[in-house]
Amino acid sequence: MSVGMKLSRLHFLKSLSLLPIAGFSVSASGSAAKRSEESEDVMYSEYDPRIEVYPENLRHNAREIAAAVDGKPIMAVIKNNGYGMGVVRSAEILEPMDEIEGFGVVKLSEALQLRKAGITKPVTLLALCHGDELEEAVRQDITPMVYTPLGEELEQLAQKYDKQIPVEVKLDVGLGRIGLRGEEIFEICRDLHQREGVAIKGTFITFTEARDFDKEKIERFSEAVSALSSEGIDTGRMHAASTTPIFRHPEAHFDMVRPGIGLYGVYPQPEDQREKQLMDLRPAFSLKCKVIHVKQLQKGDTAGYGQAFEAQENTWLATLPMGHADGWQRSAAECAKVRINDKLYPVVASVSASHTLVDLGAETDVQVGDEAIIFDDQEGSRPDDIVKACGTSAYDLLMHLNPQIPREVV
Ligand SMILES: Cc1ncc(COP(=O)(O)O)c(C=O)c1O
Repeated sequence: MSVGMKLSRLHFLKSLSLLPIAGFSVSASGSAAKRSEESEDVMYSEYDPRIEVYPENLRHNAREIAAAVDGKPIMAVIKNNGYGMGVVRSAEILEPMDEIEGFGVVKLSEALQLRKAGITKPVTLLALCHGDELEEAVRQDITPMVYTPLGEELEQLAQKYDKQIPVEVKLDVGLGRIGLRGEEIFEICRDLHQREGVAIKGTFITFTEARDFDKEKIERFSEAVSALSSEGIDTGRMHAASTTPIFRHPEAHFDMVRPGIGLYGVYPQPEDQREKQLMDLRPAFSLKCKVIHVKQLQKGDTAGYGQAFEAQENTWLATLPMGHADGWQRSAAECAKVRINDKLYPVVASVSASHTLVDLGAETDVQVGDEAIIFDDQEGSRPDDIVKACGTSAYDLLMHLNPQIPREVV
């Protein structure tokens, strides 16, 4: 049977509702291939990279963080496709939790996706937003972040939609990215304060994550907010701490915290975070694929582009169908390990666009079809282990994962 015939048969069966809409489909080899909820109409090979979501770990991390900040509310930052896990899926798992006050994203499209998926808790758009985009955000009850003179526009929208619009005011006390500085803090906040249609729900900063400078930033932030309060301006909740400052600066937990990567169970600096055991964070998702080829190299044989690997002794190599086009980092070839059948093996040669090579050693029982775990929640193969071994960034490891990789809840 040709692939074309198989696909049209699949389409036919789906149209008769004989196949589930999401879940499993029949792969070219006839075995079960998993599909993502994001791309229901796409058929994946069972060997392809896939992301498995561990909802209980995500919830556990939210509870851990809430306990570490004495029950302060959490704005769950689930930007950039939920740090690789899926933005809607992250929100769906977290929304029922009392610890989660709402969500933060940096793309309007993600904020709208959350509303479309039925997420009802507050969603803050941590990005510039005005004109038609602001109107859509207001219509969909998305909380805008303000650091430009938006008062008049907000007032008109408040009248048009007959509602008071909550806003989050962003101050820049040193990061130099976005936010109000100096005198404009007062000008903009005075303007927002005197508008009936606008309520300042929160005032916040982002840390530079430079340890000593951050202490100074806490002071600058506190001073600015007290000066505003002394003018009678209600600045709402103060918030500042993302994952690293949650660990480092308990005095900066203020009225709410904004963890992102920590919710996903990854320590941005594992050496001074996991090892201090301040919080037990558990990876909220894994990245896996299946071995597509196993072969023996003789001593002196080479493999990979540019002959990047040369066998020092006879050895077995496994090929994995995953490369930098999937978001897996090129630097992995110098440092990362992959778990196959409960053993860790080094990645070797070079990571190419679609393939990774793993050195299995002189003897092996690894076979085509065996599962290869790039990372999961087991010691030795957690994202932290790759970060530590490769000196890489946990953010790069997670957020660069190709959104087309199927994601499934296990
Ligand atoms: C404004 C803001 N708050 C919170 C976070 C979450 O940061 P992290 O993932 O380090 O916890 C981010 C992410 O960069 C952010 O931009």
